[in-house]
Amino acid sequence: MQLDVDGLDQHYGSAQVLRSVGFSVPSGGCVAVLGRNGAGKTTLLKCLTGVLAPTRGSIRLAGEDVVDLPSHVRSRRGMAYVPQGREIFGDLSVGENILAAARAHGTKASGAVEEALDLFPILKEMWKRRGGALSGGQQQQLAFARALVTRPKLLILDEPTEGIQPSIVSLIEDVIAGLRGRISILLVEQYLDFAISLADRVVVMSRGTVVETADRGAIDRDALSRHIAV
Ligand SMILES: Nc1ncnc2c1ncn2[C@@H]1O[C@H](COP(=O)(O)OP(=O)(O)OP(=O)(O)O)[C@@H](O)[C@H]1O
Ligand SMILES: [Mg+2]
Repeated sequence: MQLDVDGLDQHYGSAQVLRSVGFSVPSGGCVAVLGRNGAGKTTLLKCLTGVLAPTRGSIRLAGEDVVDLPSHVRSRRGMAYVPQGREIFGDLSVGENILAAARAHGTKASGAVEEALDLFPILKEMWKRRGGALSGGQQQQLAFARALVTRPKLLILDEPTEGIQPSIVSLIEDVIAGLRGRISILLVEQYLDFAISLADRVVVMSRGTVVETADRGAIDRDALSRHIAV
């Protein structure tokens, strides 16, 4: 499902955090958004998913402007979101977390749950464990599974490798690689090599605006690392 973002502005009080942000994720494409801490990446994703209402601009899903639609309707249209910091339900079990996500989305087929558990087998073992008792890497897998059981057409991930041990990073990389081409993926990352290995297109943000866009093949790793180095 194609995503087109155009002229997006966002303010927190009088501070402008997004400035005329525009880019597209083609249907089945994987786009990585890179940028330093505070560049506005999470704010952008919150606008896309309907957590925040942008002050200006359009967000089109398969051609339809969804900027005035609430989050749950965007989710029905096929958008799923894995937020930064996971945001799972700590007091619910792993199973309850997953089934609640499937139910909220109206997923009837248990097939979606089975598929997600096959990708993240640890969640099967931890099915009855409280979400809050999982390690960071296990919570990341749970958040990812919660998004996948909705059978998204556009998957939005905010720093899925942040604070995660290398073996889980490579599992997450494999899962994203397996989804590439089948659904659209928008990936916010600060881990440059992870982003470059997966993305068909890289969008660099600085101070709330897009300063660079490069497609696979034209990606200059050194130029990118200068943009995002602290
Ligand atoms: N709720 C808020 N109220 C006021 N300012 C905020 C709020 N959330 C974020 N900001 C500010 O907006 C700017 C962009 O923040 P945002 O979280 O979007 O950046 P980010 O690129 O996701 O950073 P990080 O890489 O650290 O996750 C920062 O200057 C931040 O301090
Ligand atoms: Mg962020």
